[in-house]
Amino acid sequence: MTQRVQRRSARWFDGDGMREFAHRQRSQQMGFSREEFMDRPVVAILNTWSDLSPCHAHLRERAQDVARGITRAGGFAVELPALSLGEVMVKPTTMLYRNMLAMEAEELLRSHPVDAVVLLGGCDKTVPGLMMGALSMGLPAIFVPAGPMMSGHWRGRTLGAGTHTRHFWDERQAGNLSDTDWVELEGVMTRSPGTCQTMGTASTMTLLIEAMGFTLPGASSIPAMDSAHRRMAYAAGVRAVAMADAGPAPAEIATEAAFSNAAHVLCAIGGSTNAAIHLAAMAGRAGVDLPDDLIDAAARRTPCLVNLMPAGEHLMADLFRAGGLPAVMNRIAAHLDPDAPTVTGEPLGDRWKDAECWDDAVIRPLADPVSDRPALARLTGNLAPRGALMKPTAASPRLLEHSGPAIVFDGPADMRARIDDPGLDVTADSVLVLRGGGPLGGPGMPEWGNLPIPKKLLKQGVRDMLRISDARMSGTHGGTCVLHVCPESAAGGPLAALRDGDVVTLSLSQRRLDVALDEAEIAERLKAHAPPAPPGRGWTRLYAQHVEQADRGCDFDFLRGAGNPEPGIF
Ligand code: FES
Repeated sequence: MTQRVQRRSARWFDGDGMREFAHRQRSQQMGFSREEFMDRPVVAILNTWSDLSPCHAHLRERAQDVARGITRAGGFAVELPALSLGEVMVKPTTMLYRNMLAMEAEELLRSHPVDAVVLLGGCDKTVPGLMMGALSMGLPAIFVPAGPMMSGHWRGRTLGAGTHTRHFWDERQAGNLSDTDWVELEGVMTRSPGTCQTMGTASTMTLLIEAMGFTLPGASSIPAMDSAHRRMAYAAGVRAVAMADAGPAPAEIATEAAFSNAAHVLCAIGGSTNAAIHLAAMAGRAGVDLPDDLIDAAARRTPCLVNLMPAGEHLMADLFRAGGLPAVMNRIAAHLDPDAPTVTGEPLGDRWKDAECWDDAVIRPLADPVSDRPALARLTGNLAPRGALMKPTAASPRLLEHSGPAIVFDGPADMRARIDDPGLDVTADSVLVLRGGGPLGGPGMPEWGNLPIPKKLLKQGVRDMLRISDARMSGTHGGTCVLHVCPESAAGGPLAALRDGDVVTLSLSQRRLDVALDEAEIAERLKAHAPPAPPGRGWTRLYAQHVEQADRGCDFDFLRGAGNPEPGIF
């Protein structure tokens, strides 16, 4: 573990120069006494709170709890606001802005007098965004997950955010829900601040960050409104002060072993497909080369044990009650590296060795997993030369070995215009394909991959079909959806060659995704492919110029690896 000898913040506050004078002067201008900030570690609280991020609505208060801990331990707490990225409110997609948050986090830390950082986030992209920035900056960092919101309930049923939104939307389209039901549902599914309480991307990523050793033990499943959450935030502040002087630096934690542990935990929790992209991006920042089949290989070894929606029945509060991630890791310990380091200094294995499971219905035993299907599967084939991903546990068994004629939509506008056309030649065996949803095509790789079932089939009772796209899908959703087809169609991937009626085959057993066309025909058709016009200005233009494909984590080509922690001459 690194022994840090001189505080970075001393460059701002120590010395007789005019600059140091100004930094002390301006700190006193804000009402801080010299004794509060001189000769103390400065710990930043990067806070992704905003009034348009309901999952983070409590983070201003939590920042105060963190600050309490920092002050108690002898540090100087400074709160820095960062891009909030509320998943549902931000358009066209938060994924377009994940890299912006990562850049902001890195530059906020670089440009200010900071010795360590507490990262406050939870809603989907905030976890990888903050972590990518912290990894590139290299200052000691500890993560405080926002925590899951209260469980949803309606007329005796337990409801999960996102999962039941889609479910009830389908029922409404099928004519099974009244206007009164629909309005009532608005108020009962998401009942408090906190992240989606299903195993969506937020729960997945916060659990993975804990599995990588970046949180306090058990932190990620503590409900946002539980008093234990406030105590965890306080303790993280205390810990950050010690880390400011003694480390570890993030790169010491984000090792190959940490990513391998995260991949196995991802499978055991039945986590979101989005995690594959975010892990690849974080690995790129940490300088770790992940094998293409890391997650697929982990899924062959590690069954889905955590019985949470959308693949299962329960919610995050149940996982907390059952023992949280330490109890999950205890069950899959044979596949984890117990020596992986953590922010608290103890090896990861110490966190699970005595952990007990208090409810086998929530964290299932190895002998009785949630599903006998793999949690995640990586596919390749002539439709996805650089891979595609699916979540078999949330899919329909009858569609896992399936061939059918494609119905191809060029982007969401085309899809919305035609999907419910009574004249659309579609059956339950058709394969719905959406292209133009990748990192370039979206742009930003929106969560369009869970294509709606045509209304006329919904009315016939069809609730799932094979769907394929170069987009992503919300982790809270289910269905037989093949996602992240790479390279994407906008980059000239084979999806761009597909036409209505081409026969597409998915074989989970073979991990294949193919179209019944030979290579020469695909190449001939692709000659007519024209890439999308580049966006005109601003962030979206920068994004389109530099974003990488899904298998590289959709990071920018110039952001991989570590940055220089020095702020430059001042
Ligand atoms: Fe924020 Fe789901 S919308 S975690």
